[in-house]
Amino acid sequence: MASPIQTKFFPNLLLFLSIALLLSSAVSAYEFRVGGPRGWTKPTGDELGNYNHWATKNRFHVGDSLYFKYENDSVLVVDKNAYKECNTTDPQLKFVDGNTTFRFDRHGYFYFISGKPGHCEAGERLIVRVMVHSEVMPGAAPSSQPGGGSANTESGAALKTTTAAAMLMAALGSLFAISMFS
Ligand SMILES: *[C@@H]1O[C@H](CO)[C@@H](O)[C@H](O)[C@H]1NC(C)=O
Ligand SMILES: *[C@@H]1O[C@H](CO)[C@@H](O)[C@H](O)[C@H]1NC(C)=O
Ligand SMILES: *[C@@H]1O[C@H](CO)[C@@H](O)[C@H](O)[C@H]1NC(C)=O
Repeated sequence: MASPIQTKFFPNLLLFLSIALLLSSAVSAYEFRVGGPRGWTKPTGDELGNYNHWATKNRFHVGDSLYFKYENDSVLVVDKNAYKECNTTDPQLKFVDGNTTFRFDRHGYFYFISGKPGHCEAGERLIVRVMVHSEVMPGAAPSSQPGGGSANTESGAALKTTTAAAMLMAALGSLFAISMFS
């Protein structure tokens, strides 16, 4: 009985949702500021391990980036072994400009350490696990499972945009389902 209304509004709604989805995926690349206001610096002691604690509370995707703000310090991108041993001799990349944006161009693990003697050992290092960007898409069917089980470890604006994208995908899915039955 409601199908005339649905068919009348369906194309506009679909167009609107498509545009909204495009916009939301366009803004979903997020820049994370490492270390908050303090930036990338040698921990003073009590917050040892804070960078990795911070990293586990965020979700990183391909296309997102890290922003490092620092003074008299550096950012080295290294492999796992160099990370573990705080070996600064042969980094994959080295930044010294005090104002570094590093964009994730692949998924997997990224390892960052300070190049300043003693700083990495003191806890100025960071592991980031980057997820594939399309991760939300397969689970976004109309009857998707709630949350994926790690909701309490997620935070920040990046989650909001991916959630918005997932909700839009779910809405699109329901619309396609409705159109098949009308
Ligand atoms: C960085 O080094 C310069 C020159 O040695 C010094 O004047 C400045 O205070 C240092 N900055 C910090 C944040 O340590
Ligand atoms: C640090 O890394 C370099 C290059 O990979 C290697 O030659 C060197 O032996 C390493 N140093 C230590 C102390 O592990
Ligand atoms: C850091 O980089 C951004 C973008 O490249 C620039 O706008 C800003 O002025 C820089 N800040 C400093 C302190 O260098």
